[in-house]
Amino acid sequence: MKVSATTESAASIQADAVVVGCYAEGKLQPAAETIDQTTRGAITRLIEAKEITGKTGEITKLLAPQGVAATQVVVVGLGDCAKLDRRAAFRAAAAPAKSLASKVRAHVAFYLNDNWDNDLVEAAVCGAIAGCQGQDLYRAEKKLSAFEQISWAATDASLLANGQTLGEAVSLTRRLVNEPANMIYPESFADAAAEMAKQTGLEIEIWDERKLKAERCGSLLAVAQGSTRPPRLVILRHHGGKKGDAPLAFVGKGVTFDSGGLSLKPSDSMKTMKCDMAGAGTVVGAMQAIAKLKLPVNVIGLVGLVENMINGDAFKLGDVLSARSGKTIEVLNTDAEGRLVLADVLDVAVEQGAAKIIDLATLTGACLVALGTDTAGLMTNDQAWCDELASAAQLCGEAAWQLPMFPEFSEQIASKVADIKNVGEGRWGGAITAAKFLEEFVQGKPWVHIDIAGPAFLDNPKPWLDAGGTGAFVRTLVEVAKGWRG
Ligand code: BES
Ligand code: MN
Ligand code: ZN
Repeated sequence: MKVSATTESAASIQADAVVVGCYAEGKLQPAAETIDQTTRGAITRLIEAKEITGKTGEITKLLAPQGVAATQVVVVGLGDCAKLDRRAAFRAAAAPAKSLASKVRAHVAFYLNDNWDNDLVEAAVCGAIAGCQGQDLYRAEKKLSAFEQISWAATDASLLANGQTLGEAVSLTRRLVNEPANMIYPESFADAAAEMAKQTGLEIEIWDERKLKAERCGSLLAVAQGSTRPPRLVILRHHGGKKGDAPLAFVGKGVTFDSGGLSLKPSDSMKTMKCDMAGAGTVVGAMQAIAKLKLPVNVIGLVGLVENMINGDAFKLGDVLSARSGKTIEVLNTDAEGRLVLADVLDVAVEQGAAKIIDLATLTGACLVALGTDTAGLMTNDQAWCDELASAAQLCGEAAWQLPMFPEFSEQIASKVADIKNVGEGRWGGAITAAKFLEEFVQGKPWVHIDIAGPAFLDNPKPWLDAGGTGAFVRTLVEVAKGWRG
């Protein structure tokens, strides 16, 4: 998609649609004023009739308005002017974009930034790109069609470029998540990461099953064992900082399909398990943006890619695995596979010299029970590091909430035959016992685990985003990298 700045007025720009904004209580933005004057008060009349209220995300269309060059004007509600944050800016652009993408439209012009802060403009551009991307990758007749071109009212071209970079990173993650498991499996995911690395100049290293064996990744390999699709581990490196400065590490769960293994999932729970690589997809999307933005920091992204399936070689309940770190793990549920994959990837991240670690995983249904579908769970061994991440998420408008890591939870993963077991006692506190398991493999490094089982994937669409992969936490990771001081 082409994104460019325009100095043309909202009334005279040649476009399929012009998007203008209205704050709460019918307070119009300057471009909306221009349209109102050109149309001899069309918007004012709608405000008087209470058709337009300025409520966040409200969309009102003026079709073929007199005197306006564009085919239609979309008035979007922006809510309270003083409360406008990045979440609101993202949605204010995404909602009209999604609505307009219902038909093929080549050129949409956004006039939303009246003296907005840079961050708000970037968030809005990102939203405009996300809003018009649909999950119907394999429908001949698309429900949503991305525009060829977006124009943005007079603003700095570098802001638009940054916003576009964020938007394209979110799009990459969403596409990877939306691709079905017969298209995206460990090898093809690694190929996609390699293609991205080639485009952006990131360094990439791909471990195949031979290398994984040589590296003693017994925990990750056990999960992969039941599938005909061989596993991969991908390491992406961005060298933007000083040589020798210890990197920030992002680690992602990349289970390209989670059948549950022998602890087989019921059909209904399995339907959306192509999304179980969303953590890995988020890391790849964020790394793309970090490289394109040329952030002056050292960041590595590591993703563990496996398919959790059943054949005669599949790992079994009661099996004892040797993780790369040397710890032994008793498997009491093959559906608690994400932590087994991450155990080895976290160990590699530490060995690669990570100063601090963030992992992302669609790890537990229990996190959905605790926090609902829209909020990610944060769990940590280092409060200051978690606070840093939480404030980045807050700035980006991505919902996250911390869960406790009381030492008592660790007792639940004690095993009678091995160092630890891969499930807690019963289902209570399942998001936390999973995090306690992961903590065993970070060797005390400052670490935050983000359980994105809820927000990574939407069963139903939002007014501003199609259902399916959401790209949640791509922007937060980029924000953390921006603030990274080693
Ligand atoms: N991938 C699932 C978690 C999940 C559930 C992600 C719903 C997205 C939506 C994970 O591998 C899993 O199956 N977890 C089990 C753990 C249990 C066996 C301890 C779960 O949550 O039931
Ligand atoms: Mn599972
Ligand atoms: Zn899983």
